[in-house]
Amino acid sequence: MGRKFFVGGNWKCNGTVAEVKKIVDVLNGADVPSAEEVEVVISPPFVFLPQVKALLRSDFAVAAQNAWVKKGGAYTGEISAEMLVNLEIPWVILGHSERRALLKESNEFVADKVAYALGQGLKVIACIGETLEQREAGETMTVVSEQTKAIADKIADWTNVVLAYEPVWAIGTGKVATPAQAQEVHNNLRSWLVANVSSEVAESVRIIYGGSVNAGNCVELAGQPDVDGFLVGGASLKPEFIDIIKSAL
Ligand code: G3P
Repeated sequence: MGRKFFVGGNWKCNGTVAEVKKIVDVLNGADVPSAEEVEVVISPPFVFLPQVKALLRSDFAVAAQNAWVKKGGAYTGEISAEMLVNLEIPWVILGHSERRALLKESNEFVADKVAYALGQGLKVIACIGETLEQREAGETMTVVSEQTKAIADKIADWTNVVLAYEPVWAIGTGKVATPAQAQEVHNNLRSWLVANVSSEVAESVRIIYGGSVNAGNCVELAGQPDVDGFLVGGASLKPEFIDIIKSAL
């Protein structure tokens, strides 16, 4: 069975109650490929999750943007995986580069979060990616394989994992990776998975691209054999997100 195209909308720290309603209205009214053809997951900030979940069309799912690394308790300000499960939030984004950079989340910490969230029954969008400095130093594969290895060391089952390759230099910069650059890293990641996890996982795990994806560049990126979808930031807040979903076909 082929890998189903996956499009995630990461709203990051954006939105008001009114704006959320407006975006969801656009999504709900859109004519998009069926859920058999594309999996769409919308990730608003925590506070809007119940609102989005209640209003959103049933063929789209929702994701949280983070979850705590272990069972909830005395961790002020954190949201536990158990809470997400309790609210029937099926997905969570973990290891986003903004959290890795700003909140100093290490490879190990991210991997622990991934393992814990999976253990609670959540599906995980695990983010990896190199900085511009690392790319220019020729370290892209070293960096992304180390990030992936940290996760691979802590999980046995990849069924509920989507790997999001998000080059840091392309995030929110308008500077998108070329289709060839994205394909090269995705293909190398798949080879890494063959060598270090299994050929079954390498063949089945979806590797999606994130970083300045928009209506204008999504079709060519989607045409790359190892690009299985997108994690979209800025453009997921706009009607052009619909065009990105349509690039699945
Ligand atoms: O998670 C999505 C992301 O980091 C890309 O953001 O705004 O460049 O599409 P953006």
